[in-house]
Amino acid sequence: MAKSQPRYACQECGSVYPKWAGRCEACGAWNSLVEELPRSGPPKSLGGSARGGHALDFVALRGDSRQTARHLTGIAELDRVCGGGLVPGSAILVGGDPGIGKSTLLLQAAAAVAAGGGAAAYITGEEAIDQIRLRAQRLGVADAPVRLAVATSVRDIAASLDVANPPQLAVIDSIQTMYLDTLDSAPGTVSQVRGAAQELIGLAKRRGFVLVLVGHVTKEGMIAGPRVLEHMVDTVLYFEGERGHQFRILRAVKNRYGATDEIGVFEMSDRGLVEVPNPSAMFLAERADGEHGEGAVAGAAVFAGIEGTRPVLVEIQALVAPSVLGTPRRAVVGWDATRLAMIVAVLDARCGLSVGANDIYLNVAGGLRIGEPAADLAVAAALISAMVETPVPADTVVFGEIGLSGRVRPVSHSDARLKEAAKLGFTEAWLPARPQGRDSGRQPGRAARSGDGIATMPMAYLSELVERLAPAERRRTRHLAAAP
Ligand code: TYD
Ligand code: MG
Repeated sequence: MAKSQPRYACQECGSVYPKWAGRCEACGAWNSLVEELPRSGPPKSLGGSARGGHALDFVALRGDSRQTARHLTGIAELDRVCGGGLVPGSAILVGGDPGIGKSTLLLQAAAAVAAGGGAAAYITGEEAIDQIRLRAQRLGVADAPVRLAVATSVRDIAASLDVANPPQLAVIDSIQTMYLDTLDSAPGTVSQVRGAAQELIGLAKRRGFVLVLVGHVTKEGMIAGPRVLEHMVDTVLYFEGERGHQFRILRAVKNRYGATDEIGVFEMSDRGLVEVPNPSAMFLAERADGEHGEGAVAGAAVFAGIEGTRPVLVEIQALVAPSVLGTPRRAVVGWDATRLAMIVAVLDARCGLSVGANDIYLNVAGGLRIGEPAADLAVAAALISAMVETPVPADTVVFGEIGLSGRVRPVSHSDARLKEAAKLGFTEAWLPARPQGRDSGRQPGRAARSGDGIATMPMAYLSELVERLAPAERRRTRHLAAAP
């Protein structure tokens, strides 16, 4: 047998090369190639005929399928993000920055499952038993019958879980610390992470337990990002949050058993993660407690957004200041900088406001990251409001997508957004007008009332928003119009 050739695998994207190079050609990462020995000799071709293979047993699409009930963890936010509970036999990957609270959340989940009568195992390769016990005490779950173990060998873990009566839930914290002794490369390398995960996922499918893998997200270093794992598991959850904020958001980015983009909101307290059943109220809490009482300061607009299947209200804040630099500064937290540039360009080109020459700071309050284009109109409202120093009325929510032509385009789930706004005491909404003829009740400029008692102010063009916040005469006196 030929001596196995060394090969080099990119720790960022998993591409394999026969020779070392400073930069991965596939993903462009520097210094990410690490020597890994292949599992066995060079792959052999099957040959012309399928010698020794078994013919597949094809079956019909329709048929009896095992419908096993989902396991509820008892942490409602987690269950919802997973699509209504954990599916037996599925594999869930939970990624997130170090210290964000992955171990805390999963220990709480394991404890909740165990306390609810199901068996749960928590296997850690990162911490000592004492540390976990201390954390469990702090979380107030020390009495839950969780089976706890420190292990890093997949062979040992498989031996304990490959039994007739495995636990309902097995948490592996983290997949980067696990290793397969059949591979020569170090734990944390792409081939180890992939091999260990493959083994464990296969086991979970065979034995029908829920497998939760913790995956670290790091930019550099030896640890493989969980990207290579994302294809292998059924559900990928990201745990995110801004440092310095106590809010943590669990977001489904892939889910074979539920909606993606679903979020669960938690608050990190001194007793672990606490569910936030009504995130809108939490995101807007600061606003209500503000020194200004009403919260109606210039440069802020409340966006009525949808995260997954749930409406979430959040404040968008903007600061617009004359630039002293040749290239004006842009700083964006919680939103897409490219989309901001687009809205600024539309305000400049279609509405005659010269916003673009200023330094612009944009922030989504509370540490939420918004991906929806429906936030365009709220961002524009915050920008215009900051620019002309006129507050958006405190009881108003804003949503709508903006096209390059300056048109305000309709967005989905209008009713859910209005309902949530009404629930939180808002009385007015600035929103897209429906296309002509579709709904006589939402023609541009004609105020109406939604089913929830919210006064709606439909807008067809962004210029209508500008006119509303900054009437022409006011713009002229403040020299805000673009130079003719
Ligand atoms: P941890 O779950 O260890 O993070 P990860 O596994 O994602 O690396 O969470 C660690 C952080 O959470 C740490 O900074 C302390 C904080 N924390 C609390 O604020 N309250 C608590 O009750 C616990 C257990 C942790
Ligand atoms: Mg941890």
